[in-house]
Amino acid sequence: MSAARLSPTGLPPASPAPARPVVIAPSILSADFSKLGEEVRAIDEAGADWIHLDVMDGHFVPNITFGPDVIRSLRRHSAKVFDAHLMIAPADPYLANFADAGCDIITVHAEAGPHLDRSLQTIRNLGKKAGVSIVPSTPESALEYVLDRLDLILVMTVNPGFGGQAFIPAMVEKVRRLKALIGDRPIDIEIDGGVTPETAPLVLAAGANALVAGSAVFRGGPGEYAARIAALRPAV
Ligand code: DX5
Ligand code: ZN
Repeated sequence: MSAARLSPTGLPPASPAPARPVVIAPSILSADFSKLGEEVRAIDEAGADWIHLDVMDGHFVPNITFGPDVIRSLRRHSAKVFDAHLMIAPADPYLANFADAGCDIITVHAEAGPHLDRSLQTIRNLGKKAGVSIVPSTPESALEYVLDRLDLILVMTVNPGFGGQAFIPAMVEKVRRLKALIGDRPIDIEIDGGVTPETAPLVLAAGANALVAGSAVFRGGPGEYAARIAALRPAV
């Protein structure tokens, strides 16, 4: 190796962290709730990488969806990663229930309780990947001191509670700053809210690698799921 390629420390320059694979995670919030098992099978077969599970409590967010028992019953319909997004406060008393129900990634909201560091340790101690979500008004700096406890950061690009809302453009800059803050750490950046074939390239270019999509996948019914998932992937 020539001297010109050595860094000022005399060591070879560190190689950049490998790019994280792009993941598409359809949210069953927009599925037909009367046949959730079938819907999960359909998005699995249509090429979903993860299954995104939006848990809402009517307290942290103004809507109510489902809990661990429903997730447990869906587990036998797909072997894909179950990506649980807990929009509940408090979350800590229920973390073991969600782990036991078969969630692989458990994401809590930074705004949902005072002891985020403890919540993340609890999730990892349960043997699950730990995620944190931040609502649009929370700055990325809120995560600065928990980065080493995290496997995933979920950036809300709408205010949580409902599917079908419009993407908030100011969040693209937040993703860019978050990517810089994370550095080489092996953390997924997931985007949730208003993801479409038009907004997906913006957040991928800013540093995100996981895309949640509810209405953009489920609109049109099962016959269209594969094409709608494919339309969110970057062109090769
Ligand atoms: C909103 C949920 C989202 C929602 C996204 O609180 O966290 O996962 O399903 O829906 P769309 O993709 O329709 O914006
Ligand atoms: Zn979500």
